[in-house]
Formats: sequence, structure tokens, C-alpha cells
Amino acid sequence: MDLDRFLYHLQFQSERVIPADWEPAWDDAPLPYKLYQHLQEVPLDCDLPFSINEESLASTTGLKRLGHLLWYTYGQTRYSETANPGTDGLGAETMQAFRRFVPSGGGLYPSELYIYLKMEDVPEGIYHYDAAHHRLLLIRKGNVDSYLRRALGNRWDGTDAQGILFVTTMFWKNFFKYNHFSYRLQGLDAGALLGQWQEVSARAGFSTNVHFQFLDRRINHLLGVDEGEETTYAIVPFADREFIREEMPLSEWSGDIPAVETRHYQRSINVLDFPYIQEINQQSMFDSPQQFRLLTGKEDVRHTEPAQPLPDVEPPDYDLAEACRKRHSPELDFINQKISLKQLALLLKGTVQPYSTDLYEKEHRSSMTIYGCFHGMEGLPDGAYRYDAQTHSLIEVDQGDFRLPLQKAMKLDNVNLHQVPICLHIAGERTHYKKVFGYRGYRIQQMEAGMLLQRLLLTASALGMNGHPLLGYDAKACDRIYQLEGCGETTLIQIPLGRYHPKSCLLGSLHT
Ligand SMILES: Cc1cc2nc3c(=O)[nH]c(=O)nc-3n(C[C@H](O)[C@H](O)[C@H](O)COP(=O)(O)O)c2cc1C
Repeated sequence: MDLDRFLYHLQFQSERVIPADWEPAWDDAPLPYKLYQHLQEVPLDCDLPFSINEESLASTTGLKRLGHLLWYTYGQTRYSETANPGTDGLGAETMQAFRRFVPSGGGLYPSELYIYLKMEDVPEGIYHYDAAHHRLLLIRKGNVDSYLRRALGNRWDGTDAQGILFVTTMFWKNFFKYNHFSYRLQGLDAGALLGQWQEVSARAGFSTNVHFQFLDRRINHLLGVDEGEETTYAIVPFADREFIREEMPLSEWSGDIPAVETRHYQRSINVLDFPYIQEINQQSMFDSPQQFRLLTGKEDVRHTEPAQPLPDVEPPDYDLAEACRKRHSPELDFINQKISLKQLALLLKGTVQPYSTDLYEKEHRSSMTIYGCFHGMEGLPDGAYRYDAQTHSLIEVDQGDFRLPLQKAMKLDNVNLHQVPICLHIAGERTHYKKVFGYRGYRIQQMEAGMLLQRLLLTASALGMNGHPLLGYDAKACDRIYQLEGCGETTLIQIPLGRYHPKSCLLGSLHT
């Protein structure tokens, strides 16, 4: 099995990772949420606050507050019904879906959330967040501090953390529709969820540190997940103090814990094999902290003229709950309205704020680069640009109106790019960090891109715009626009962005 070829096809020839005669079995589709059976239940508060900021959260503590944070992060927030023209030209087809505040490829939400809690009002242990019922289910009871410390490579003493969040991927949840292309979506989806948790938990005054590196098999054992169908992608301790990185001596693994026996329901009767995902998942696993690595900040040696400085602005301070409620993917609802350079400056500044991960020694900006094609912006000639976060300026790559080449590069014309003034691309290293992290680098890179994406979408929503994340574009064609091949980068996701009409669908809220 040639995994390098698989990753190349995922990025540049996605039709080659899906069989030509592929038809998803919609009648046997899995549920978009995992349902555990026969576990001890901890209900969460369903009286959810309309806003989520220091003031509104100050009146809540403990489990009540945690329930609000989880709901804003990954709860099922709405139910929608959308009408599309029928394929036979007669009548309309309606589509119903549960929605969340994070976007997800095809609205399938392959990620799951687990949480380790040490709180007075609930038994200490590992829980699954049951999004369908907005409750926690106890998977493993007891204190696992020292086990977790070792599974995180002794780099962190989390004894006084408020909790630890685990983001997993359940492969079948979106494989059933996208076949092996789902692997690309899974990392981006997990990243968007991580970005959402960073924003939501920051409003409660929590600091977070995202771990992409840990002993996978130990962590999956701790959560009781079967690594053939689900695996952990990231671990996020959160606390109301700054994290101090510990450098404790590495020790031999000891202190195993018993397996947990759980049962869950996911609806599909016929679950297919996903051999490439299984293989790359196995190849990505770390068995020893000696495999953990750091990234070195890259120095940009590209020619940096001509540069257009952006207006000097502070990152926007916004009402997160409102930004979440307004965020959606507009699809055909974009309207062609001018955006000022100041709005663009706020959008980009708000998106690239530094955060803490185990990829760097200290807080660091994302190592992704934001590129964009702009049309009809006030005070900016049409063209393709790179955003330089360091100098907060746009570096011109090429001049001109790129809407037609971008539209031609779309695999499905479900967004009219002539209606959007801004089309952004998040780009990253073409070799997906393979040199540093081996095959694990691919999913780390996709998660980083997803985290940046989510901050971009929330900031856009707060500024009265919206972005529609897309993978249905020809990466080679877009890379050519920004001349990326020569500098070793590639476009990882496309985000047309602008103002929009209200969505034409029926929408019902799922909370009181
Ligand atoms: C990683 C990722 C890839 C996506 N790719 C596409 C795409 O190729 N085409 C598309 O129309 N929408 C795409 N979407 C948008 C989703 O379909 C959308 O988020 C989902 O239907 C939920 O709707 P919402 O964003 O309005 O909440 C993508 C979203 C994500 C997070």
C-alpha cells in the first residue's frame, strides 16, 4: 500500500481515492452522533445562555458552566429543512439535518468529544459528550492523572487542570459518503472543532494547550475506543491558569489500567472496510515519547515586494454566541457587496492570533499561510495576494481578476465565485510535515488548517460576513495562481467569503 501516493491523490487527484462506481448507501447511513448504551448518565443544564462571555459565565460554575461550554462547542444547536430543485426537474427535494456551530464536510460530524473531569459535583473519570441528548456518559470512573501524564510523554503535570478534552475521529461516520476522501475531511473537521473549543473555553477564562502528540494506543485504551473504527486526534487540557511546560524525565511505561467494556449504536448494518485509513492510522501512531518532535518556526525568504500595508487594527472583540448563531456556509446566497480594507484587516488580524500547542516551545501563530484573490475591494487592486501576519500586510503575487479561473477550478458549481469579493486559501507545506512527524504529519497539518479556518469563519461572522469552506476545487490550478509549487506549499482548503442573503431554509432551535 503506497501511502505517499494516497496522500498525493488526496491533495491533487481526489477522484482517484474514490472508486469510479461509488454510490453511498444512504438508506444505511450512520448517525451523525455516537450513542453509547447502558452507561451512567450525568445530565447537563439545558437552560443555555444567549450570550457567552465573562459576565454571563461568571454566574455559573462547575458542571453547569461546563455544559454551556460543551453545547457551544459541539452541541446539536438546530434542525434545518432545505428545499433543492428535484433532479428530474419536477418539484423539490427536501433535506433535513441536525446542525452544529462548527462546519463539517457534508454535515456529517465525524469527530466525537470525550472529557476527563475532576469536579466536585460529578464522579471523577472519563466521559463521552453525548451531543444527541446534551449529557455526559461515564466511561471510566477514577483518577487517571498519572496514566495521562505518561501518555502525554511526561511533558505536562495536569493535576490542577479543570479537565482534559479529547477529540476523536470515527472513520465510518463520513467514509460512508466520501469513501477514502473522508481522510482529508476528518483532520480538517477535528481542527475546526479544536478551534471552536479554544474560542469558547477562552470566554470562560480557560487557557488551553493542544497536544497533537501522545501515545495513541494508551489514550485509545483509556477512552475505551476500538482503534479499528475510531482514534484520538488531539488532547486539550484546560485550566484557569497559564500552563507551565514540565520537563520530567522520560520513564519506561508502567501502571496499566483495565480495559473498559462499552456498547454503542451507530445505525449502519453494513460497515465497509477502509484499508488506506486503517493503514495510515497505524503508521501515524506514536508508541514512545522519543518520537515527539517540535517544529522550528519557518523563516520566509521570499521576495516581499510590492507589499500593501493593511490598516493598523486591534483584533476584533466580539460576541461569540452571536457569531456562532450567524455562522453558516452561504453556498449560493453570497451577494456582491464591497468590503473595505479595514474590514479585511480586522478579519485577518482576528484570525491569526497566537495559541499554544505542543508543536512549538511557546505560544505561536499557526504555521499555515493565508492567500487570497480579491476583487472590487475598496483601496486594493484586484489580484492574488499572500497575507504576511508578521508585518500585517498583503504581498502581491499577481494582478488581475481571478474569479473566472477560480470558478473553472471548482469541481461543483454550488458557489458563485463571481458574487464574492474575497476567496481565501489556507496553504501549508506540500509534504505535510512528513519529514518531522512521519505520516502523523498529515493529520496534524489538516488539524492546524481547521483551527485557523474556524477562527476565520467566526471572525467573518462577527464582521457581518460568512465564509463557505470548500474542498471541491482543483488544488493544482489554485496553487498555480499563487505560484506555490516553487515555494513548497499547497492550498489545503478554499474559503469564498463575503456578505450574504439570509439562508432560504426552515430552521428550528434545539434549546430552550
Ligand atoms: C473541511 C470541510 C470541507 C468542506 N467541503 C465542502 C465542499 O467541498 N463543498 C461544499 O459545498 N461544502 C463544503 N463544506 C461545508 C459543509 O458542507 C458545511 O459546513 C455543512 O453542510 C454544515 O453546514 P454549515 O456550515 O452551514 O453549518 C466543507 C466544510 C468543511 C468543514
